[in-house]
Amino acid sequence: MQPAVPGPAPLPAPWWRSAVFYQVYPRSFADSDGDGIGDLPGLREKLGYLELLGVDALWICPVMRSPMADGGYDVADPRDIDPLFGGLRTMDELIDEAHHRHIRVTMDLVPNHTSDQHAWFVAALAAGPGSPERDRYYFRDGRGADGSAPPNNWPSIFGGPAWTRITEADGRPGQWYLHIFAPEQPDLNWENPDVPADFEQTMRFWLRRGIDGFRIDVAHGMAKPAGLPDMEVPQRPVDDTHLVVHDDNDPRFNNPAVHEIHRRLRTVMDEFPIAVSIGEVWVDDNTRFGDYVRPDELHLAFNFRLAETPFHPGRIRDAVDNSLRAVAAVGASPTWTLSNHDIEREVTRYGGGDIGQARARAMIMLELALPGAVFIYNGAELGLPNIDDLPEAALQDPTWERSGHTERGRDGCRVPLPWEGEQPPFGFTTGRPWLPMPAWWATATVEKQLERLDSMLSLYRMAIELRSVRPEFGGPGLEWYGSPPGCLAFRRDGGLLCVLNATDAPITLPAGEVLLTSTPITAGKLPANSAAWLIQ
Ligand code: NOJ
Repeated sequence: MQPAVPGPAPLPAPWWRSAVFYQVYPRSFADSDGDGIGDLPGLREKLGYLELLGVDALWICPVMRSPMADGGYDVADPRDIDPLFGGLRTMDELIDEAHHRHIRVTMDLVPNHTSDQHAWFVAALAAGPGSPERDRYYFRDGRGADGSAPPNNWPSIFGGPAWTRITEADGRPGQWYLHIFAPEQPDLNWENPDVPADFEQTMRFWLRRGIDGFRIDVAHGMAKPAGLPDMEVPQRPVDDTHLVVHDDNDPRFNNPAVHEIHRRLRTVMDEFPIAVSIGEVWVDDNTRFGDYVRPDELHLAFNFRLAETPFHPGRIRDAVDNSLRAVAAVGASPTWTLSNHDIEREVTRYGGGDIGQARARAMIMLELALPGAVFIYNGAELGLPNIDDLPEAALQDPTWERSGHTERGRDGCRVPLPWEGEQPPFGFTTGRPWLPMPAWWATATVEKQLERLDSMLSLYRMAIELRSVRPEFGGPGLEWYGSPPGCLAFRRDGGLLCVLNATDAPITLPAGEVLLTSTPITAGKLPANSAAWLIQ
């Protein structure tokens, strides 16, 4: 009998598989130079805070050169840092210092479109119809005898048509170009070989500087349907809380050809084995979602189900089950997120005020108890709500103008963070913040919350720490546990029991050692709108 040959030692799990990512919206995080807009030196000064919070990695929203028509998602030079945020040197310093503190740094990349100020687009305007320069974008003649109607009926995500007509060099009305988002964000034509080649260059540029990975914007976009046919225009649901209206039947997204693009980008990622790619994938169908995280495509994809789910036990359980199922079939890891810079903040979504706070506390505990990577949007750890009464004159989201002042857009979830002191701008800046900060945030500052054990910030710190040190959070799976109506309970492979009380009355907890609760246990019971972690 042959002696058993030991198989290869199992590979250690990649760092990102169960990492806690912290999303920095740089404009709103911390301003170092008094211009009212957050920047990279400001972020660097706050790395100690992020270390204290206990996060494993940052996701920094776009900081590349940009005219800022859409908060930096309109990139004019993808291989440079905008002076508003600092410069390449500042970025290098930030990466170094973050690494020194054992925090990894990922950044946004925007493959679907450029800024209209990008050298390629400027060249395309000058070069004329049929030129190779125009072929890098979607330029088309208009419909009708004089070409005055857009090439198809596609609407822009920010309102109005997805096409803008240009004036040709000879002064005559000319071709139209496609922009699924703002007119300042022309869509790139990924069938033109210059486009993937340049994007690969951008990826290597940042990876060689020490970046640990990318959040890929609109990762389900890029590939457009052949011939750009008219589409059925989806109606926006009245209670829609996120900006990116998504509908699996929208032909502008999730075209099968996008997977070839991801496979190509993955070969670049594989040159840097430490690095992670995380796609923004607004796709509901589990199989189609899972396709993005097959072993040769993205490492992770944002699953937005929890962020779209009200505080309702059945709906939360469905969201968790669905998110797990979506990745299980392809052997990928799940991701969890309650909010981001495009979505109404969770405290507001869950009802606002004390109830919204209590539910947000419970939900971060539920989220951190799940297997997989967790994404925290800056300010969530302070329990910041949406600010929905910003003065109209202050609004900057392109949605506000493009919708003819009918939709306020996303500024309400982008108000700068309150750091210290009693009055706005609460140490965010020495100047005037780019969006006004409410005076009542005096009690929500980092300074105040660090002092209180019962603050949202303290809960985040305790929960993140427990998650990182306790073996009970281990293992890839979970099992639902019997629970009274209106409640949820699941058990992780490692032994952690997470209980959510979504009723409006206290409940008795199962037997076990209580590790943490989102609201103090009262008279031996877990209060309404609360969560608990136990081990048995
Ligand atoms: C998704 C980003 O999250 C959003 O902020 C941006 O406006 C669009 N993509 C367009 O880049």
